Amino acid sequence: MRINILSLFPEMFTGVLQHSIMKNAQDRGAVEFSVVNFRDYSTNKHNNVDDYPYGGGAGMVLTPQPIFDAVDDLSKDSTVKPRVILMCPQGVRYNQKKAEELANEEHLIFICGHYEGYDERIREHVVTDEISIGDYVLTGGELASMVIVDSVVRLLPGVLGNETSHKKDSFSTGYLEHPQYTRPSEFRGLKVPDVLLSGNHKLIDEWREKESLRRTFLRRPDLLVEEQLSDVKKKWLEEFRKERD
Ligand code: ADE
Repeated sequence: MRINILSLFPEMFTGVLQHSIMKNAQDRGAVEFSVVNFRDYSTNKHNNVDDYPYGGGAGMVLTPQPIFDAVDDLSKDSTVKPRVILMCPQGVRYNQKKAEELANEEHLIFICGHYEGYDERIREHVVTDEISIGDYVLTGGELASMVIVDSVVRLLPGVLGNETSHKKDSFSTGYLEHPQYTRPSEFRGLKVPDVLLSGNHKLIDEWREKESLRRTFLRRPDLLVEEQLSDVKKKWLEEFRKERD
């Protein structure tokens, strides 16, 4: 996968893209990142990238020229049509399903504004997706794009050591992940549930499924569609409700 990020503050990305799993993913050739300062594309004699809004009002607006030219340049040697993603609080809310969708693409271009708004022609003619990472306003799209890049790249084949390790993540299954324990089996008198030490994998799988449902019911009931649950899961839900009430 190829990922280009357009930002006026490329240094913000070095910590995130050059460590841990993002670094390994690049070293293994699963992804190629480049962070581009779109000011470099400005044809304005002062290299300006923003201007006052027509009609007046507070704040500045990013002009179309540097962004149109940067996207044209980054797309020209691409064999596929890139997804061009504008980071903004007005976009569709990001989730794991969107991460999985983007992980199937070959080329992503992120556009990160900072303080400013975007000229509407950027939205209409360059951008394929507008994405928000949540209902709050950041000072810029940089942090938001890093969140998306991280969550997409970890899904690429070969990036996580264990091929199946993301398949049971919270949200991938539609439920939150079950509780996990490791050694020692008793710590300060606190014991690991017996079933996990039993070696009986059928019982362990059942316990995990039930605890995953319990955690989802208690923390994120909005993720549960009760009509779609098996009879066993419906019974477990009844049990959780009784315990709660
Ligand atoms: N830019 C500013 N706030 C944002 C948000 N919540 N999501 C994506 N981009 C943003």
